[in-house]
Amino acid sequence: MTDTIDEKQTPFARNPRHFGIDPGEPWPDDVPMDQDDTRWRYQGDPKGAKKAERRIAAAWTVTLLASIGLAAVYVDGANNQLAGLCWGLAFGGLGVGLILWARDLMPGHDVIASRGHHNVSSEADRIAVAESLGRGLDPMARRPFLLKMLGAVGGVFGLAIAFPIASLGPRPHRNLYQTAWGKGVRAVTQDGTPIRPSELPVNGILTVFPETNPSDALSPTLLINLGDADYDTPPERVGWNIPIDGKTGIVAISKICTHAGCPASLYNVVTHQLVCPCHYSTFDVLHLCQPIFGPASRGLPQLPIAVDAQGFIVAQADYSRAGGAPVGPGFWNRG
Ligand code: FES
Repeated sequence: MTDTIDEKQTPFARNPRHFGIDPGEPWPDDVPMDQDDTRWRYQGDPKGAKKAERRIAAAWTVTLLASIGLAAVYVDGANNQLAGLCWGLAFGGLGVGLILWARDLMPGHDVIASRGHHNVSSEADRIAVAESLGRGLDPMARRPFLLKMLGAVGGVFGLAIAFPIASLGPRPHRNLYQTAWGKGVRAVTQDGTPIRPSELPVNGILTVFPETNPSDALSPTLLINLGDADYDTPPERVGWNIPIDGKTGIVAISKICTHAGCPASLYNVVTHQLVCPCHYSTFDVLHLCQPIFGPASRGLPQLPIAVDAQGFIVAQADYSRAGGAPVGPGFWNRG
């Protein structure tokens, strides 16, 4: 004779749906009938449950104090070791508290359920799954103290972890658009010597910096004497070079590769191409320094230059102020 739910009731009036069995269906032999999916560690032991709550609260208090400590460390100058310690304690306390809650105050037993039928779940099964998830939340709702404490700890911890945003440094504002070049700023070598056009031979190449701020990271510039090479000058760039003997003469090109910022400085005097040694982006100097090979998608900007009253090479303006493209990599490629 077949067992049915009426004939073979589970102990404690368990809901058969919790075990994947439809009411009225025969109870499968491979699903133990004495399983209890509602039991938790301190069930029937209020004192033990209270102690468990206190242990969890202690763990989260560690998180709370560590979060406050984390904020204080950042305000005080962000000592890395101390900040790391606070991070560790904050996350550790939070994790330990959650683990203890799950272990001691919530049902946490393995349950064997029926595989059921291998077709689309019935409406009743879906309701049973939703009920099952709901039953997981009930034990949490029964602990208002822990829930409130978790909310407070989460709030303070959430505020504390916002402090590292300060480590990102000051906002760039317009700095990414500007270099230290400007109208009348002399081009100097690494040792601060200003340059006269006659000092750069044909096919010569020289790295120069703005005299006013030689260490500015975006300013390194290449002076290239193109001699009589046929330089492609669009109308807006007429007058940006220093002609020599009526020929193209000297042009100034940003040395910062537009791919990832390496110095693009390997110059081929035969092809008039500049190669960046990092990923081999190759720029055609005679044609607006546009990339012709490699990952760079944007040409190297040109700096408009002139000669001052003393005969030294100076900038006519900053790169972007002159209507040219801003200097530098990636950022400018996004939209
Ligand atoms: S940085 Fe120049 S090619 Fe990548």
